[in-house]
Amino acid sequence: MIRSPLMTVMTDAVMKASRSLKRDFGEVENLQVSRKGPGDFVSAADRKAEKILREALEKARPGYGFVMEESGIVVGTDQSHRWHIDPLDGTTNFLHGLPQFAISVGLERDGQVVAGVIYDPAKDELFIAEKGKGAYLNNRRIRVAARNELVDAVVACGLPHIGKGDHGLFLREAASVMGNVGGMRRLGAAALDLAYVACGRMDAYWERGLHSWDVAAGILMIREAGGYISDADGGSDPLNKGSVACGNEIMHRELLKLLKKAKG
Ligand code: IPD
Ligand code: CA
Ligand code: CA
Ligand code: CA
Repeated sequence: MIRSPLMTVMTDAVMKASRSLKRDFGEVENLQVSRKGPGDFVSAADRKAEKILREALEKARPGYGFVMEESGIVVGTDQSHRWHIDPLDGTTNFLHGLPQFAISVGLERDGQVVAGVIYDPAKDELFIAEKGKGAYLNNRRIRVAARNELVDAVVACGLPHIGKGDHGLFLREAASVMGNVGGMRRLGAAALDLAYVACGRMDAYWERGLHSWDVAAGILMIREAGGYISDADGGSDPLNKGSVACGNEIMHRELLKLLKKAKG
């Protein structure tokens, strides 16, 4: 598989940042950790990785804008392009020594995500997608699972930190889904949840309370893997809505029905 110049820029930046994360993984006592809210931590590992990504992408594509989890929004001179960056998705896992975390970088061009990279340093798994060119895991083409019976499906979910979302709604939705599917998982890194649906490890996934940096790359990954993704209420703009529901065509439709039932 030949990588385009854009994909080379993105994967080089991500691999460089991943070396920093790998060095920091398991070194929590040496990382300055602060709290954004209950259970919502940020560390020097997040900030260092973000700085590496920003510098590398800025150098390769001067003028593009940025939406970054830790440093916020930078408006570029090129108004058509902006990067959505999550330097460490799954900070809670990372700080607990759980090897389920990732770097996620998506490129938005004129309102559409056109390229995405999600890298899991602990497992050395690189998920990439470019609009119209398919989605890949370590150079092998990936597709969403073909399963179409909800009762056999494994469904991923995520819930917001205290004070950041409606836990009552999550419980109603989880109860509605739980009673109808084969199994549920909460792995703790939204970008990987999306990548896992794209490669068929999970049949479906929903979560509310997310941001564009969590989902930009994953939205494209799902679509390029033949899947369907919307916000959790079925709307067509998951990038800006802050929620997602996804799966193959049938799983996506059935999941939305269960979520709708829970909302009443
Ligand atoms: C979090 C993870 C988690 C999800 C949270 C996100 P972070 O991202 O993706 O799985 O449930 O909503 O904020 O803060 O570790 O980058
Ligand atoms: Ca965070
Ligand atoms: Ca995140
Ligand atoms: Ca993060």
